[in-house]
Amino acid sequence: MEEKLRNIAREAQGELDGVDNLVNLEALRTAYLGRKGRLIYLIRSIGKLPPDKRPRMGKMANRLKVELQSSFDYVKDNLLEREREKKIREEAIDVTLPGISFHRGRRHPITATLDEIIDIFSGLGFKLEKGPEIESEYNNFDALNMSADHPARDMHDTLYLRPGVLLRTHTSPVQIRTMKKQKPPLRMICAGKSFRADTADASHSPMFHQLEGLMVDRNVTLADLKGILTRFVHQFFGEKIKLRFRPSFFPFTEPSAEVDISCVVCNGEGCPLCSQRGWLEILGAGMVDPEVFKEVGYDAERYTGFAFGMGIERIAMLKYGINDIRLFFENDLRFLHQF
Ligand code: PHE
Repeated sequence: MEEKLRNIAREAQGELDGVDNLVNLEALRTAYLGRKGRLIYLIRSIGKLPPDKRPRMGKMANRLKVELQSSFDYVKDNLLEREREKKIREEAIDVTLPGISFHRGRRHPITATLDEIIDIFSGLGFKLEKGPEIESEYNNFDALNMSADHPARDMHDTLYLRPGVLLRTHTSPVQIRTMKKQKPPLRMICAGKSFRADTADASHSPMFHQLEGLMVDRNVTLADLKGILTRFVHQFFGEKIKLRFRPSFFPFTEPSAEVDISCVVCNGEGCPLCSQRGWLEILGAGMVDPEVFKEVGYDAERYTGFAFGMGIERIAMLKYGINDIRLFFENDLRFLHQF
């Protein structure tokens, strides 16, 4: 019996040394120390020994059982530790690896410029109106005092869709639409696309954006126009920028003016951007022609008004120092990411 006990202990120890995972370890434990295990089986048979042998055998068997149990525990602890380390190694994050960068979306510079200008005029009480890009010849020309034989029509290389229907050549038809549905007093702006059959080059594009403004009330004067535009220019380009009105002609305003600002680069000294002139043209404006009021049913004796229209690409180019209008529409990310 004693011999058998020692053998079991030795064999168990030997097998334990070869165990390399928890599943096999548990199988081995059951084989020796489980209810039907070899050692437990032997321990049960101690009861059949002559009484004088029982105590010694009992003690010895118990000691072996405790020893074996602690050997199992020891191996189990080791295996658990090894598994934990393996897991840590596998789940480790290498903080020196380059990260995955997210590409942030951003507003197109034209959108950003429009938003900024709209904000400024909203602050001055101008309400944003909308009009369609496909427009009637009537709204785009006739109602704006440009009848079919008017020479000013030649200035707009118009894209006709069919007789009487065209892609609007400016945002001024939105003046007509708004006045036809609203009674004065009125303060509106409109922003959007305009189209002309121009060949694209550094300063021309067949599609471009305009911002239109119109104010109608009693006693609106050229001074109000100048005040509003000065406010806008100072807010958009900076307080130091000067304005000047140059006499001009538009069929729908009388008098009409082209508005220049002192050059944003040289401050009026003369440089390549302003062609040594010191001034940059930024918009067209004037007092609403009584003929236009007559067309929309406003009383030209009671009301006066001013209107202005500016090219957004041109304004954005001046503000951000961009020298080619085509950059806005090629949408090269290297360009767009600079804004
Ligand atoms: N519509 C004119 C243009 O496109 C600009 C303008 C608008 C001029 C309003 C005067 C008043 O050139």
